[in-house]
Amino acid sequence: MESKRIAAEKAVESIKDGMIVGLGTGSTAYYAIQKIGQRVKDGLSVKAIATSKQSEELAIDLNIPMISFTELEEIDVTIDGADEVDGEWNLIKGGGGALLREKIVAAASKLLIVVVDESKVVPVLGRFPLPVEIVPFGFEMTVRKLKKLGAEPVIRREDHQIFVTDNGNYIADCHFESIPEPEKLHTMLNLIPGIVDHGLFIGMAGQVIVGSTDGSVRVLSK
Ligand code: 5RP
Repeated sequence: MESKRIAAEKAVESIKDGMIVGLGTGSTAYYAIQKIGQRVKDGLSVKAIATSKQSEELAIDLNIPMISFTELEEIDVTIDGADEVDGEWNLIKGGGGALLREKIVAAASKLLIVVVDESKVVPVLGRFPLPVEIVPFGFEMTVRKLKKLGAEPVIRREDHQIFVTDNGNYIADCHFESIPEPEKLHTMLNLIPGIVDHGLFIGMAGQVIVGSTDGSVRVLSK
């Protein structure tokens, strides 16, 4: 989609020679990885770390040099998509099921640039079901606990099979309708055993770039 592509390509302008770059996951991050691949072909010297097996495979196909956590202290910039962004730049992520690796990479990054089309910018988070990554052991119990928080959790399936993340876990897509206090929910979710992580990214985005259907792109200010 054009609006996703222009947001992603704008973000790639921030990447400079010598940087370590985090590669996001999803259809918007795809355009960023493609653009980075093109710049590498034209002589840009970077090393990258991916947030999913899918993005890693794409990067390798594009001859983007990869680096592992063993070899790095910090990531200079990560470019990733989001499912929702509120006015405080809090995010819902994980629509593609990669939220855990995305959060680990974002937390290791000096700058997280979020790239979205305008449909993702919302006044209040929660219309998009919040993805929660849960371990298979006792997942039924974890789902009950999520219900007690007011969610309608649905275990994600793909081709009639339970969807399994790159980390061997399940995703419960939690329909909250509205999350007026994302920080509070973030803390409550982190206290439930069985939850590995969830798609609320609070205070992690350092820049939000929004592409529009009219071809314009804007860098949001808070
Ligand atoms: C994957 C993600 C994605 O960044 C998010 O789902 C947005 O995807 P897209 O760019 O395809 O709309 O969090 O886990």
